[in-house]
Amino acid sequence: MGKKKAKKAQKIGHHHQHDQSNNIHHHQHDHHQPASSSSNPSHPYIPNAQPLHSSDNQSSSSPVNTDNEHQEAIHFYTVLSAFSLYEIHSFQHIQIRENYFKSLETQHKHILGEKQLQLRFDLQRTAVTCNYNLLRRILPQENTIQNNDGDDELPRQVQIHFPSNVKGSVRVSDDDMEKVHSTIKQLMRDWSDEGRLERQQTYGTIIDELLNFYSEHKTPESRSGIRVLTPGAGLGRLTWEIARLGFASQGNEFSFYMLLTANMILNEVTGKDAFTFYPFLHQNINVLSINDQIKPTTIPDVNPASLSDLLRPHNKAADLSMVAGDFVEVYNDPYYHESFNCVVTCFFIDTGKNIFKYIDTIHKILKPGGLWINLGPLLYHYAEMPNTFSIELTYEEVKQVIQHKNRFNITKERQLDCTYCGNDRSMLSVVYKCMLFTAVKQ
Ligand SMILES: C[S@@+](CC[C@H](N)C(=O)[O-])C[C@H]1O[C@@H](n2cnc3c(N)ncnc32)[C@H](O)[C@@H]1O
Repeated sequence: MGKKKAKKAQKIGHHHQHDQSNNIHHHQHDHHQPASSSSNPSHPYIPNAQPLHSSDNQSSSSPVNTDNEHQEAIHFYTVLSAFSLYEIHSFQHIQIRENYFKSLETQHKHILGEKQLQLRFDLQRTAVTCNYNLLRRILPQENTIQNNDGDDELPRQVQIHFPSNVKGSVRVSDDDMEKVHSTIKQLMRDWSDEGRLERQQTYGTIIDELLNFYSEHKTPESRSGIRVLTPGAGLGRLTWEIARLGFASQGNEFSFYMLLTANMILNEVTGKDAFTFYPFLHQNINVLSINDQIKPTTIPDVNPASLSDLLRPHNKAADLSMVAGDFVEVYNDPYYHESFNCVVTCFFIDTGKNIFKYIDTIHKILKPGGLWINLGPLLYHYAEMPNTFSIELTYEEVKQVIQHKNRFNITKERQLDCTYCGNDRSMLSVVYKCMLFTAVKQ
């Protein structure tokens, strides 16, 4: 079991049931090994699977552990830096594209006209600035250097306040910036009107199953005691929706990109449509029209802070929490043994190196008679990573593991088409033939 320690930027969720909600829990992945490459177009749904950090069972005084903590700090500040460098990085990218166009032969340039080309790049730059205005709100104030001119507005270029022991070690790679881009698309999926259909396919289907299983609990008030966990909660919308129905809803997530962004949305935004942004700005290929690339959308489509107001008429306090850390490490703590009525996995079971551990953990934390709802593909995020341990089971084998010694009874199974951060105006569309199943712990 990994050691637990309090961390910065972990105040997520409106209500913490247990002080572990404010802790990051260690896990055993190699910190330097990105869990996925979201730049691979055949894997468009993988957002930000970079683990929090690596760990082992060393005591806090051991040099190994100190080194792990140091690595984790470097990773944390790399994520902050990636957000803060987004505008500069994107401008550089646009400038390179613009220079390529400028270097075209005159007769080719004239076909589209210099004005039209200039307009395209100007529009892209304006959209970058708009996205950056959103991203810089994600950075926790205590980790940034603020200008002290009494102006409430954040400075244009947010500077990260690096502790001396990480300064000089932080490098933002293209992969890190790719994760910022994925975060932007994930904001579309979870919190924009544009993502409504995709959420209906996925979160809507899961919620139908949840309500169906607990159909005797007709009111939010009567669902109070039912504890539901969403591992790999991403930006928290499904966890929030479950809380909105009155369940005691807990999310779990290990990516700093996701945790910081979810924290901003869930704890700091207090109204609808607070931000306008451009989720598909960085898709330069398979674009039909420049208007598709720079189509604005707003977030959030609901006021995240309205949870308590929505539940008050039902005499019900909102019960939403988020636990940061690796799912297997955090929830194998005896504290969580048989503590959940339901576990909901949405695009999650294929994110680990060893699916056996995920299934064992889900079984362990469920109460007898408890429900597991799963929806997602079997993409296996580590599968194509060179020299990386990864177990890739077929769906039939997954079922064998689930049903081993009759520990679970699979009560429902069907396949359904779902997109992930899909862009319906793109010339490329990826549809996952997801497996939806429900299983009851025996
Ligand atoms: C494909 S995304 C799905 C996110 C969300 N459930 C959705 O449907 O939009 C998988 C998420 O699981 C997180 N994740 C992957 N492995 C994890 C682990 N071992 N513990 C906690 N979170 C993990 C990733 O950071 C990522 O946010």
